[in-house]
Amino acid sequence: MAGRLAGKTCIITGTGGAMGSEAALVFAREGALVIGCDVDADAAQQTLERVRAEGGRMESLHPLDLSTQENAAALAAFALSHGGRIDVLYNNGGGVRMAWLPDMSAEDWSFTIRNELDIIFFAVRAVWPTMVEHGGGSIINVGSVSGKIAYKVLPAVAHSAAKGGVIAMSKHMAMEGGPHGIRVNSISPGLVLTPSTERKMSDPAWAEAMIGKIMLARAGTPADVVPAAVYLASDEARWVTGADFAIDGGTTAW
Ligand SMILES: NC(=O)c1ccc[n+]([C@@H]2O[C@H](COP(=O)([O-])OP(=O)(O)OC[C@H]3O[C@@H](n4cnc5c(N)ncnc54)[C@H](O)[C@@H]3O)[C@@H](O)[C@H]2O)c1
Repeated sequence: MAGRLAGKTCIITGTGGAMGSEAALVFAREGALVIGCDVDADAAQQTLERVRAEGGRMESLHPLDLSTQENAAALAAFALSHGGRIDVLYNNGGGVRMAWLPDMSAEDWSFTIRNELDIIFFAVRAVWPTMVEHGGGSIINVGSVSGKIAYKVLPAVAHSAAKGGVIAMSKHMAMEGGPHGIRVNSISPGLVLTPSTERKMSDPAWAEAMIGKIMLARAGTPADVVPAAVYLASDEARWVTGADFAIDGGTTAW
């Protein structure tokens, strides 16, 4: 299959989720061999079947909890066994627990940091040696608007710490990766409609507060976000590293 990602082996994490499943479909349409994974085996399997039904090339390791170093290493080994090399690591998957500061337990704090920040560090560590060996690669880390600003209606103290960490860590990784041809960038989406955010949008006050932050006055969709990742994964972005891409309808530009 020809395409902007033809010949590339691309790991996408969290392929059972809203943006991960969209990413798997679009990356496969662009000619990538997609290596997916998710802790949610049923959802990951559904994505695998959708991609293959379209004629796309995909392998998936699930259930896989990526929040341990051992499992991150297993994912890299799985990708190498199918693709022979790893060209792209798209760190999309993550889990979060939301609570207002006085109610945020130490356990929920640690869960969020582990599943949004550690998870990316472990995956990057796991693919780094093979990317160095092959002379480069592209790493795309998903941050969030919550890593830069606070929302009045979002109890995001741990989430903002984790996503701010993702954005900052990506710049450091870009600096270490530069001499090896490894590009590292982050994508920071604003409010994106997924099953979980759609449930919250049924509260009019919540929806008004969130949409009021968006210059384009509507929530995004996974299809609004994934093209940025395709660009960063492709050779078109060969001179782009250390950047954070705000895909947020103007939320952070007021
Ligand atoms: N939806 C939004 O409004 C929004 C906004 C900004 C950023 N983001 C970020 O975009 C990314 C994708 O979000 P989404 O909205 O598609 O969420 P989602 O919950 O639909 O998808 C995330 C996927 O990651 C998987 N996952 C969670 N923990 C895991 C683990 N330890 N190991 C393996 N898989 C794990 C989940 O099972 C899920 O399928 C996330 O990093 C999220 O923080 C989302």
